[in-house]
Amino acid sequence: MNIAPKKRILTGDRPTGKLHLGHYLGTIQNRVKLQSEYECFFLIADLHTLTTKPQKEHILSTREHIKDMVADYIACGIDPAQSSIYLQSAVPAVCEMNLFFQMLISLNRLTGLPSIKDMARAAHIDEETVPLGLVNYPVLQAADILLPKADLVPVGKDNEAHVEIARLIARRFNQQYGDFFNIPEVLVGDCPTLVGTCGKSKMSKSLNNAIFLSDSSQEVTKKVKKMYTDPNRIRADIPGEIKNNPVFIYHDHFNPDKGEVCDLKERYASGNVSDVEVKDKLTIAINNFLEPIREKREKVLQDKGYIEDVIYQGTLRMQEIAQEHIKQMKSAMGISGAWNKISRIARSR
Ligand code: TRP
Repeated sequence: MNIAPKKRILTGDRPTGKLHLGHYLGTIQNRVKLQSEYECFFLIADLHTLTTKPQKEHILSTREHIKDMVADYIACGIDPAQSSIYLQSAVPAVCEMNLFFQMLISLNRLTGLPSIKDMARAAHIDEETVPLGLVNYPVLQAADILLPKADLVPVGKDNEAHVEIARLIARRFNQQYGDFFNIPEVLVGDCPTLVGTCGKSKMSKSLNNAIFLSDSSQEVTKKVKKMYTDPNRIRADIPGEIKNNPVFIYHDHFNPDKGEVCDLKERYASGNVSDVEVKDKLTIAINNFLEPIREKREKVLQDKGYIEDVIYQGTLRMQEIAQEHIKQMKSAMGISGAWNKISRIARSR
C-alpha cells in the first residue's frame, strides 16, 4: 500500500526562557495535538533573537533559555520521537535562502509592517535607527518556513502578516524560476491571548504577570492570591462581575470540573462566595494541571545531555532536508553546473 507522506508543519519561537500558561494555550497545546497528523519541525529561532538583542551577554544567556524552553516543550507533550526540534543558527542554509529571498521583496513592503514597529518599540529602538536585520525579520522567517517546504504554519495573530510575506516570496520565486515551492497555509490559533494575573495586559514575562509552567505549587498559590478580580467587590456578599474577570477566565481554561466553575460563577454573581474560595479552587485546578508537567520537566532536566541530544537529532534532520532543498533551489535558479565545481574547489582550500 502506498501511504502518502505526511504534510509538514513548521513553527517556532525565539528563545526567551521559560514558557507560561499563555504560551500553553496559545500554541503549545495546538502543537501537541497536531504532531501525530503532521511531520512537525519546531525551530528555536535564535537568529531572530539577534534582531533586537545582538549583545553578547544576551547571546550567552540564550543557552539557558533554550534549555528551559525545550524542557517545557517536552514536558507539555511535544514528543521528540515524532517531531524535530532544531536550532536555527545550526542550519546555515537558512542564511543562504534568506539572501536569495531578499531579492524578491521590496523594502517598502517590509517597513510598512506594524509588527516591525512593535518589536522596535518593545526593544526601545528608535524608529530612525531600526537595524536592517530587524526590517529583514520576516524574510528570515520566510526562509525558515520555506526551507523544509512547510505546508502549514501555526502561529499567533501577531505573526500572520509574516506568513503572508513567506507566501508572497514563494509565489515570486515560482514565477521567476519555475514551480518549486508549495504555498504554505497559515493556521492562526483560535485561542484569544490569555490575560495576565494583573487582569490588564496579556500574560507576559516582562510585565511580571505570568504563571510559568515551571512554577512550584507555592509560587502558583502566591500568584493566584494576588490576582486581580472585580475591584468593586470588597465583601463576599457583594455581587461580582464574571465577564473579563481573570480568575474566571483561568477557571474556564484550567478547571476541568465544569460543575464547580458553574456553581462558583453563580454564587459570585449573586454575592454568595468569597474571593478566597474562588481563588483557592483555582489554585487547586492550576496545580493539578501543572503537576504532571512539572514532573516531566524535572525528569527531562535531570537526564544529563538529553535536551542537547534532542536538539542535535532535530537539527541533523533539518540539515539533511535543507541541504537537499538548497541544492535544488540553486539549480532552479541556474546557480549550479560548472559553478558547483568551483565552489567545491574553493571550499576545499
Ligand atoms: N516570529 C516568531 C516569534 O514571534 C518566531 C519564528 C521565527 C517563527 N521563524 C518562524 C514562527 C517561522 C513560525 C515560523 O517568536
